[in-house]
Amino acid sequence: MTIGIDKIGFATSQYVLKLQDLATARGVDPDKFNKGLLLEEISIAPLTEDIVTLAASAGNSILTEEEKQEIDMVIVATESGIDQSKAAAVFVHGLLGIQPFARSFEIKEACYGATAALHYAKLHVENSPKSKVLVLASDIAKYGINAPGEPTQGSGSIAMLITQNPRILSFNDDNVAQTRNINDFWRPNYSTTPFVNGVYSTQQYLDCLETNWEEYKKRYNWTLDDFVAVCFHLPYPKLALKGFRKILDKSLSQEKQELLQQHFDASIIYSNRVGNIYTGSLFLGLLSLLENADTLKAGDKIALYSYGSGAVSEFFSVQLVEGYEQYLDKERAQVLDRRKPLTVEEYEKVFYEEANLNPSGSTQFTGYEDQEYALIEIVEHHRYYSKVEK
Ligand code: HMG
Repeated sequence: MTIGIDKIGFATSQYVLKLQDLATARGVDPDKFNKGLLLEEISIAPLTEDIVTLAASAGNSILTEEEKQEIDMVIVATESGIDQSKAAAVFVHGLLGIQPFARSFEIKEACYGATAALHYAKLHVENSPKSKVLVLASDIAKYGINAPGEPTQGSGSIAMLITQNPRILSFNDDNVAQTRNINDFWRPNYSTTPFVNGVYSTQQYLDCLETNWEEYKKRYNWTLDDFVAVCFHLPYPKLALKGFRKILDKSLSQEKQELLQQHFDASIIYSNRVGNIYTGSLFLGLLSLLENADTLKAGDKIALYSYGSGAVSEFFSVQLVEGYEQYLDKERAQVLDRRKPLTVEEYEKVFYEEANLNPSGSTQFTGYEDQEYALIEIVEHHRYYSKVEK
C-alpha cells in the first residue's frame, strides 16, 4: 500500500509588509533583506487571524464535503498555540464541519512539528487504510520590532490530506531523524516572542543537515543523483541555499547540478513572498516547487529536510504520482497579490495589538470582513470563531 499526500493547500494572512519599506524604516540597505536573506515580502496577521483561522482556510481550500465526512483525525502542528490545554485542532474540526468520530489534537516541536504529524498520520493510515488524516501546519512567526529576525517573520498554514493511494505524492520509508538538546531558538510560556541565538541557530541548522544527509546516504545507499530536487525548511531562503550548496555533489553532471539548482529556485518562490511560517515552511517550499517547476514528472523523487529548533531534524523523501499536477493551483501567486500592503507604521500597530479583555474576560473584534474565517469575540475567556458571511 502506498501512503502520502493526497491534497495540499495553503492560506496566508491578509496583510503584507514589503521588506524594502522595512529596510528604509530600520536604516538598513534593502539588499541585506533581498539578497542577504532572499526575502521580498512577509505576511502579517491581525488579531482576528490566528493559527485556527489560517488552518481552517487552508483546510477548506482542499476538502470536499465528502472528504470532511471521511476524515477521522485532525492534527494541527504549531508553535504559536492559542491555548495551553485545548488543541487548535478542536476549533478547526468544528469550523470545517469534520464528522464527529475523529481524533483532534495538537503537536509541537518548533518547526519540526508538521514532519512528526505526517509520520503519525502515515502510521495511522497503515493501520487503518480507509482513514483520511488532515494535517495542518499553522504558525505566526513574530520576532519583535527591530529584532534581527524581524525581516524573517511571516504567517500561514499548509493543509495536507494524508491517505492511501495518494493523488500527489507518496512517502518513501526512508526517514532519518536526529535530536540535539540545544538552545538555538525557544519561547518560554511567559514570552510572546522567541529568544534566539541567531548565528548559532544557523550553524545548527546546517550541521544537522550535513549529519542527517551523511547518515541517510549510509542507511539507504541513495545519492543526490537519485533525486530531482531537495526541499528545505525555510526560515529564510538564503539559509536553505547555503544548505543546498553544502550537500550539492560536485561530481554530478553539470546538467544534473543545474536541474537541482532550478528546482531549488522554484522551491523558494512562495517563501520569498511570505516569510517564515515555522512548521509549514518546508511544505510551502514543496508546494512552491510542485507549482512552479516545469520539468517534474511522475516517479520523480524529492528529498526533504525538516529542522525544528531545540532541535529535531529529519531527512526523508517522497515520490510524485501520475497525474499529480491536476491537484495543484498554478495561479496561487494571486493569493499573495491580493494581500493588502501595510506601511511600517501600520505593521507596528498590528504587531502590538492585544485583545482588550474587560473584567469578565470578554471582548468583541471588528474589521474581519475580508477574511474567510475569523476570531470574532472572546466571551468569558472562550474564543469564538466563525466563517465570515460574504
Ligand atoms: P542578520 O543580522 O541579518 O545577519 O541576522 P547578517 O549580518 O549575517 O546578514 C545576513 C546576510 O545578509 C549575510 O549573508 C550578509 O552578508 C548579508 P551571508 O553571509 O549569511 O551569506 N548582507 C548583505 N547582502 C547584500 N547586501 C547587503 C548586505 N548586508 C548584509 N547590503 C539571522 C541573520 C539569521 C541571525 C537573523 O535573521 C535571525 O536571528 N533570524 C532568526 C533565527 C533564524 O531564522 N535561524 C535560522 C536557523 S534556526 C531555524 O531554522 C528554526 C526556526 O525556523 C524556528 C523554529 O524551528 O521554530 C527559526
